[in-house]
Amino acid sequence: MDFSFTEEQLMLQDVARRIAQEKIAPSAEHHDRTGEFPLENIRLLGENGLMGIEVPAEYGGAGMDPIAYVLAMVEVAAGDAAHSTIMSVNNSLFCNGILTHGSEAQKQTYVRAIAEGEAIGAFALTEPQSGSDATAMRCRAVKQADGTFVINGKKSWITSGPVAKYIVLFAMTDPDQGARGITAFMIDTDKPGFHRGKTEPKLGIRASATCEIEFQDYVAAADDVVGKEGEGFKIAMGVLDAGRIGIASQAIGIARAAYEATLEYVRDRKAFGAAIGTFQMTQAKIADMKCKLDAALLLTLRAAWVKGQGKRFSNEAAIAKLTASEAAMWITHQAVQIHGGMGYSKEMPLERYFRDAKITEIYEGTSEIQRLVIARNETGLR
Ligand code: CAA
Repeated sequence: MDFSFTEEQLMLQDVARRIAQEKIAPSAEHHDRTGEFPLENIRLLGENGLMGIEVPAEYGGAGMDPIAYVLAMVEVAAGDAAHSTIMSVNNSLFCNGILTHGSEAQKQTYVRAIAEGEAIGAFALTEPQSGSDATAMRCRAVKQADGTFVINGKKSWITSGPVAKYIVLFAMTDPDQGARGITAFMIDTDKPGFHRGKTEPKLGIRASATCEIEFQDYVAAADDVVGKEGEGFKIAMGVLDAGRIGIASQAIGIARAAYEATLEYVRDRKAFGAAIGTFQMTQAKIADMKCKLDAALLLTLRAAWVKGQGKRFSNEAAIAKLTASEAAMWITHQAVQIHGGMGYSKEMPLERYFRDAKITEIYEGTSEIQRLVIARNETGLR
């Protein structure tokens, strides 16, 4: 087993770290406070190959592997979580799905636009009444005699929904078939019948715009089907496996930022005549933070490695996301506690890390869903 990274992986990590520290982190407080979408920074990430990391060069991407994706995501998330949410959806949920299941024309048009940073993508699965139970969707796509589909319905919690040019949509084409009656479509948000609804005011990742979207007699061409009719649910699940590696990496980045700020603080802050880092209760927290951080990173790299081998990685991705998101919540909680009043104050980023970490236990499959996936894989029972 070799724990070292390749030169290319380290180069991409370095590019991501530089942009994150020089451009993203300095404006993170502003973006969190105002909720302003960080379009300029997202373009910069795109120009540097970070919006299509695993996309081959022939479709405008960086042509790197899933390990490089993890390393870059961690750096961007350590700069600001909201930026890494947008990056994760573009890379994992949009590009990854179209690359695996899309037609050559879809790859050339849509993957290229997102990978080159010219447009922003989104992924629409969740509905107001169906989140974890994704097959309970009501959005309908009815096939017409000429092969087109007429789409009606609502989707909610759509990351980048307010700004996305293209969206991968999952809709019921055959409700009698349940999971096997769902089809994936490529949506162009400039076409008639597409509407954006209310924007969600959120606890954290406030600069990553999230909204409801609605389809009213939107007409999708036969060529807009991604993969085959009825394969949408499996496509969504496979794409979410990849997405979970991205969210695990995001959680690690947030946790690392909180951990590094804490290391600095415990060296400087004095109480009872000594640096608080010399107290055993602080030392125990630091040691536990580091163990959780390293465990989360190694499990996430393992999931990325299995993905890179072209094998099924659903279980590894669920284990990584569950471990990393719960580690991020615990680490940011302890970081706030160690900083005391300063941890609670908006003058320092600790409270933001704490708020940002929470979403990693919720989106792209809650911790409960990750446990369900892992237990089903381990026991073979359903
Ligand atoms: N890869 C490929 N196929 C898969 C799969 C995977 N990971 N998981 C399931 N499937 C297949 C199954 O093999 C099965 O196929 P057959 O019909 O051929 O047997 C089919 O899909 C149905 O599978 P299940 O019976 O297991 O489906 P289920 O209804 O029991 O659901 C679930 C399983 C794990 C609960 C799933 O619904 C799930 O993951 N739910 C969570 C959804 C989720 O993560 N939502 C996040 C929203 S998106 C988001 O947050 C994006 C954002 O903007 C940031």
